[in-house]
Amino acid sequence: MKRIGILTGGGDCPGLNAVIRAVVRRAVCGHGWEVLGIHDGFRGLVDGVVRPLSLADVHGLLTRGGTILGAANRANPFAWPTPEGPRDVSEQVLVRARKLELDGILVVGGDGTMSIAAPLAARGLPILGVPKTIDNDLPATDQTFGFDTAVQTVVECLDRLHTTAESHQRVMICEVMGRDTGWIALSSGIAGGADVILIPELPYDEARVCDHLASALVRGQSYSIVVIAEGALPVGGEASVLEAGDATRARRLGGAGDRLAASVRRCTDHEVRTTVLGYIQRGGVPTAFDRLLGTRFGAAAVDLLAEGRTGRMVALRNGRIESVPLAEAVGTRRVDPAGELVRTARHMGIELGGA
Ligand code: F6P
Repeated sequence: MKRIGILTGGGDCPGLNAVIRAVVRRAVCGHGWEVLGIHDGFRGLVDGVVRPLSLADVHGLLTRGGTILGAANRANPFAWPTPEGPRDVSEQVLVRARKLELDGILVVGGDGTMSIAAPLAARGLPILGVPKTIDNDLPATDQTFGFDTAVQTVVECLDRLHTTAESHQRVMICEVMGRDTGWIALSSGIAGGADVILIPELPYDEARVCDHLASALVRGQSYSIVVIAEGALPVGGEASVLEAGDATRARRLGGAGDRLAASVRRCTDHEVRTTVLGYIQRGGVPTAFDRLLGTRFGAAAVDLLAEGRTGRMVALRNGRIESVPLAEAVGTRRVDPAGELVRTARHMGIELGGA
């Protein structure tokens, strides 16, 4: 019998519990293995905080947002936060995995988690990645789970913003997440009927945004909806940063919506309001798509372990679940400014601010 561990790294996202449930079901029922839940991402491996996960423990998990294992985005064993500065405690992870007699470790996470997993795999840890993030910005998979739910949530919020914007004849700016990519903004903006969508991949020209809003109002439109990604930046400018990052944590973005509102106020008589959706996008019940994708990923990851194919990440490619070497899974997949999604937005008359 094998014993495997599972951890959820980085920020949480809808569908993590669906993956945990799938892993336990496939491992226990399909292979007769034992599963240990590792708490708070890699922190649980460094500190040794684990617990057995039974079928009963994962019963009813499919619909639950968040992660029953806890998540941590300051738990990189290669840059462990200490009062004296970042320390490399990666050896502790290898020692802990041996002590716990783990035959395999599944790490569910985004780019940060995969970039920790890749060097651990190179040092002999039997590790496998499962791609998650609402940002949908991992390079080796067509989609991450969590994204569909986040987009659905944003679209529901945009539907609400339409009605209040219309009542008050306002320019409504909605700031959404996505780090340095515009997948959430672009997808939800198109589906949510935005007039302007601003994404990090296309630095925006303020004058162009103002002209578009003015001409829409001249055409008889009484209000406008603008979706701006948190990482969006004006031409020649920088993204709005709330908190600088360091080796132990990523920088925190925020303020893009308010910055744009200040510019737009200078060029319109309409009232301008900003809504920042923030963590609303990460919470709540996963959509059917994310439950299904998380379940497929989880089951496939266990089967890869059974085949002894570690050092890889499961991925969705052309509708099929495949796997890629972890080294290929690291990095950021950005929106292609010449791609089909951007073209569709332009064809709908949506202003993208640049290029
Ligand atoms: O990567 C997911 C994400 O929600 C980003 O969209 C956002 O920029 C970031 O995490 C926020 O991270 P934190 O939870 O550290 O504030």
